[in-house]
Amino acid sequence: MKDDLIRKIREHRATIGVVGLGYVGLPLVLRFGEEHFSVIGFDVDPVKVTKLNSGESYIRHIPASRIQTLVKEKQFQATTDFGRLAEADCIIICVPTPLTAKKDPDLQYIEKTADAILKTLRKGQVISLESTTYPGTTDEILLDRFRTTGLEVGRDYFLVFSPEREDPGNPKFSTRSIPKVVGGTTSDCLDVGVTLYGQVIDKVVSVSSTRAAELVKLLENIYRSVNIALVNELKLLTERMGIDLWEVIDAAATKPFGYTPFYPGPGLGGHCIPIDPFYLSWKAKEYDFSTRFIQLAGEVNTAIPYYVVEKIGAALNDRSKSIRGSKVLVLGVAYKKDVDDVRESPALEIMELLQHKGALLSYSDPYIARLHKMRAYDFSHMSSLELTNDVLRSHDVAVITTDHSNFDYQRIVEAAPLIVDTRNATRNVTRGREKIVRA
Ligand SMILES: NC(=O)c1ccc[n+]([C@@H]2O[C@H](COP(=O)([O-])OP(=O)(O)OC[C@H]3O[C@@H](n4cnc5c(N)ncnc54)[C@H](O)[C@@H]3O)[C@@H](O)[C@H]2O)c1
Repeated sequence: MKDDLIRKIREHRATIGVVGLGYVGLPLVLRFGEEHFSVIGFDVDPVKVTKLNSGESYIRHIPASRIQTLVKEKQFQATTDFGRLAEADCIIICVPTPLTAKKDPDLQYIEKTADAILKTLRKGQVISLESTTYPGTTDEILLDRFRTTGLEVGRDYFLVFSPEREDPGNPKFSTRSIPKVVGGTTSDCLDVGVTLYGQVIDKVVSVSSTRAAELVKLLENIYRSVNIALVNELKLLTERMGIDLWEVIDAAATKPFGYTPFYPGPGLGGHCIPIDPFYLSWKAKEYDFSTRFIQLAGEVNTAIPYYVVEKIGAALNDRSKSIRGSKVLVLGVAYKKDVDDVRESPALEIMELLQHKGALLSYSDPYIARLHKMRAYDFSHMSSLELTNDVLRSHDVAVITTDHSNFDYQRIVEAAPLIVDTRNATRNVTRGREKIVRA
């Protein structure tokens, strides 16, 4: 079974099934398709499926032309029919792994996908889970279910975990050039997994188990969360001390070894860093273990939007104004610069806090034309304002929450009466600096 599957993969005759066609799944579809594999994309969202089958992209940094080429050459089709999972030799799972309202792992998407695969699991398939999750998920959710079929893992079918490392909007790295970590349930599973990813990724790194592979991803994101918390806390201290933390970080970053710069901001954002660490702290409880670094980083980072709102209040107060009744223009609602993704964006938390205090909110973001209802926020009545000088002048304060590259910061500072900058985006502005407050 193993040798046949490996041969099929090496000869690019294997059919690839990608489940979950989002920020992670879609780039993988394209990568396999461009290496002439036949790819079936599975998603529960019929709108996405229809768009993809007509060659449209719904992710800004993925050009529609790449999808169109594959659709035209019949290399790729998207479907909501999970019965077709039987057609795939290799199934890659890229579904969401959010938190519940109580900040526990929400594994329903992986569970539903596992149930769907279970119905059609057959000899000669390899299943790879890519969704970020706690160590043990591949065993506890996939393997346990698949055992009920009587098929033997490592002999009849193969199971691996391979964490995704997409960095949306970063032009320096592509799916192909980012090394890929793989762990297998058995050594034969690992061989199949390494062969699979070796066809489309330049460097594949194997680890000894699926649990190790699961923890790799969490370590990477916990490392970021803890380091961001460190500079966010230092931001509060250096403000009192009258030291410019950004200057300090830039100078420290000239050290050619042993230091990686992290920058303070308005709070954590995105689908990964605010969420993933809690997958590990949740699992750690099973071992009577408290993950203190994770908790502390969570506390520090969660407090930052409140600090930003305080700074906005103080800056308005200095101009004899209150937050209540002031017109606040939020610049950038995406969670980071140059992306069209608002998931977990700290800008939304800041907007929510400002709204509670009676601010009159507007926003401008070249990548987010309008806001939709989300799990935690509902700004669905709002759409992006064009950033004209009149718009800037007509607000009491402009708050820079996302440092998009195409904002003209000099013009913003000249036109707006007051600017609160959470990203040091105005660092190169020369005129009107007295109107800038950093937060
Ligand atoms: N976005 C990133 O930069 C990034 C980076 C690394 C890891 N990850 C991880 O990858 C996983 C996927 O994240 P994403 O950003 O691609 O999410 P996403 O929301 O962009 O895409 C997920 C897709 O899965 C679909 N879906 C939901 N339930 C499904 C089901 N039962 N069957 C099939 N499709 C289903 C959704 O409709 C959506 O299209 C998460 O675990 C995330 O933590 C994301």
